[in-house]
Amino acid sequence: MAGTQEVINALGSIGFFAGLNQKQLKIVVESGKELSYKAGDTIVEEGTMGVGFYMVVDGKVEVRKGNKVLATLAKGQFFGEMSLIDEQPRSADVVAVLPTRCFTISTWVFTALVKEHPELVLPMLKEFAKRLRAAQSSPTS
Ligand code: CMP
Repeated sequence: MAGTQEVINALGSIGFFAGLNQKQLKIVVESGKELSYKAGDTIVEEGTMGVGFYMVVDGKVEVRKGNKVLATLAKGQFFGEMSLIDEQPRSADVVAVLPTRCFTISTWVFTALVKEHPELVLPMLKEFAKRLRAAQSSPTS
């Protein structure tokens, strides 16, 4: 299990949290938890209601819809935001493909954080746009 400072450093290097100072990052770290997964574990299941926002601290995950891999996410990338934003079921499965550690915060903490620090939304929107462009340019099956 990583120490608080390691998680603070990892979160601070993630675009989404880059706008927060050390003190604010510490508050975020203390209000979330780190979870470990084995390769093959499903972290987020399509169709279930979302209760958390996740950042990959270490390892690798795939975003899957049926047989299709929509994206591969690694250290510094996030997932699980869509369900928290639109209050709809999870749009895809997210599965660990390597032993993976994630830092997760609850919907409540995520919402409070975004309301208190609206500057966090811009990097998230940039990532949204990037993922949408990638989805648009990938061949449909
Ligand atoms: P959510 O719908 O809460 O749960 C599944 C997550 O997979 C979703 O949030 C996004 O974080 C992520 N996701 C869904 N579709 C894509 C995509 N096309 N590219 C990258 N990530 C995605």
